[in-house]
Amino acid sequence: MADLTTTIGPLQLKNPVLVASGTFGYGQEVVGLMDLNRLGAVVTKSVSLEPRPGNPPPRICELPGGMLNSIGLANVGVEAFVEQKLPFLAALDTKLIVNIAGRTPDDYVAVIHHLEDQPNIDGYELNFSCPNVKKGGLEFSQDPTTTAGVVNVIRKQTQRPLIAKLTPNVTRIREIAQAAADGGVDAVSLINTLVGFAVDVETRRPRIHAGAAGYSGPAIKPVALAKVLEVAEHVDIPIIGIGGICNVTDALEFLITGACAIQVGTANFIDPGSAPRIVDELEQYMNAHKLAALPELIGSLKKWS
Ligand code: FUM
Repeated sequence: MADLTTTIGPLQLKNPVLVASGTFGYGQEVVGLMDLNRLGAVVTKSVSLEPRPGNPPPRICELPGGMLNSIGLANVGVEAFVEQKLPFLAALDTKLIVNIAGRTPDDYVAVIHHLEDQPNIDGYELNFSCPNVKKGGLEFSQDPTTTAGVVNVIRKQTQRPLIAKLTPNVTRIREIAQAAADGGVDAVSLINTLVGFAVDVETRRPRIHAGAAGYSGPAIKPVALAKVLEVAEHVDIPIIGIGGICNVTDALEFLITGACAIQVGTANFIDPGSAPRIVDELEQYMNAHKLAALPELIGSLKKWS
């Protein structure tokens, strides 16, 4: 049987298939629809210091190649997260990565202070890349100096693994990934959504109340793969690949390109069983291709001569 275990810096996972932040609530929402224990890790919905109601509706719309969202980081806030959501998540037989959002570096620090003495949290994913908020979103990952600075502040607060979730809405993502590495993260996850826009031609209004929003789903997969390739070729840091992954072939493309794990996002809205199915089919692929362990696959991209 193929060995599906993978490592993301200091984090050991039983398999490389994760679910992306914000695509399945806090886990309880999908009970009965999928077995969360089959996953390599669960990444929570973004948690901020204070509760956030999010942006006014409509804040989600389906498009031919994917979907637009502008949720505005709606969440219960860290205190309610610890009291109401964490007990369920901490009891799962999988790793738990808490995604954190903040308007300032101090916000991230404060959220981490609330979480540090909670057991069964295996790492933090720092959301530096939400395109749908006025403060604390893209500005943290569109400039290398800012990225390194904010990571450096957060790094001093915790020994737990830190992952920076980066935006594709930059010219050279390698510079941002390098800055995040220099600041002290253990890994980067890429990509978050592309900024997009759609119009309802009957009402002539934007289809999303906030206007421009985050575009995700199958259409962004080639963009995400190009960003993973760029970072894999230029930065010595583990990569978690995200972007339009719906099936095992998509997941394999990211792993072969250099990601050591992947996150399933928009596909969860179509079929919450997608991620566990990818785990099964990844094992079948590895057995069929006589691959004993995942490192034989990760970064095994062959160049044309
Ligand atoms: O609007 C949102 O909550 C989106 C978050 C994200 O893309 O990180």
